[in-house]
Amino acid sequence: TTNVLLDVDTGVDDALAILFAVAHPGIALLGVSCVAGNAALPQVVQNTLKVLDAAGAGDIPVAAGATRPLIAAARDASHVHGSDGLGGIELPATGRRAVAQGSVAMLREQLLASDEPVTIIALAPQTNLALLLRTHPEVAAKIERILFMGGSASVGNATPTAEFNVWHDPEAAAIVLDSGIQTFMYGLDVFNRVSVPFEQAEALQSSGRRAERLAGALLSHRIGMGPGHEPVYTGLIGDAGAVCALVDPDALRIERLPVFVELAGASRGQTVVDRRQFPGEDRMHGLHAEVGLTDVALEVDADRYADLFLRTVALLD
Ligand code: BDR
Ligand code: CA
Repeated sequence: TTNVLLDVDTGVDDALAILFAVAHPGIALLGVSCVAGNAALPQVVQNTLKVLDAAGAGDIPVAAGATRPLIAAARDASHVHGSDGLGGIELPATGRRAVAQGSVAMLREQLLASDEPVTIIALAPQTNLALLLRTHPEVAAKIERILFMGGSASVGNATPTAEFNVWHDPEAAAIVLDSGIQTFMYGLDVFNRVSVPFEQAEALQSSGRRAERLAGALLSHRIGMGPGHEPVYTGLIGDAGAVCALVDPDALRIERLPVFVELAGASRGQTVVDRRQFPGEDRMHGLHAEVGLTDVALEVDADRYADLFLRTVALLD
């Protein structure tokens, strides 16, 4: 099993990722840290605690982290995830509580306590991780790698070129990419591909198992896009795909490429992925020589991940 810390902004598809991570026998979930992103922080924390209940998870520490990005203004994604972050899906009240320490302290404690190196899976703006690495740089030695949902080597979603998590806190993503820790980018190139057909999502909602019913409801959630906020069914497993990437990387085509975050102008928040066949004039002149390499997922066997997701969540009660 792999020791994993999850960083989330739950979030319809973060909820799917939490169900998957709890269910998968190859994952030992050491803790979940919350950050403002899809919804405001208190809502993200409540959603996360309730989804852990629905997953029947053990006593996993959940910590509240950053309430806003490092520098950028706070902007939620309620047009995608609803004002409650969970698309209006009502979950029972929970007896779980967040730990008293904040995300940075919880992440540090779990990293230092772990005998084995830990993989951090970031499904949200990377504010907590940037703060962790700047406050306690010594924890880097305990981090195997940071696998993040974010960025794109092609189109964006928040803007034509920028993906939401990176766009929400570009400086934080830049700190993580420049940290020297091995990074893995599960971006929109693959994120947008893996979905469950509507009939299947709907059928799950009448499952005898609580976790499957929740997965069905989450997958059936429609996103209000367009000028009139027209509801669109996507069926995307979304962030859950980034957790699939940990346990089944062979379903991906991955290239190790230079990646940096654009911090200024209209393309602020874009991950610039250098996919050129030959180095160009910038390299001749020694420009951007310091840009680090990231493993970028460029293609996915989408059916295989949709199937892996459904089979794994079926393991829960
Ligand atoms: C990312 O942004 C959020 O809306 C989703 O949860 C996902 O992490 C996609 O751009
Ligand atoms: Ca997310």
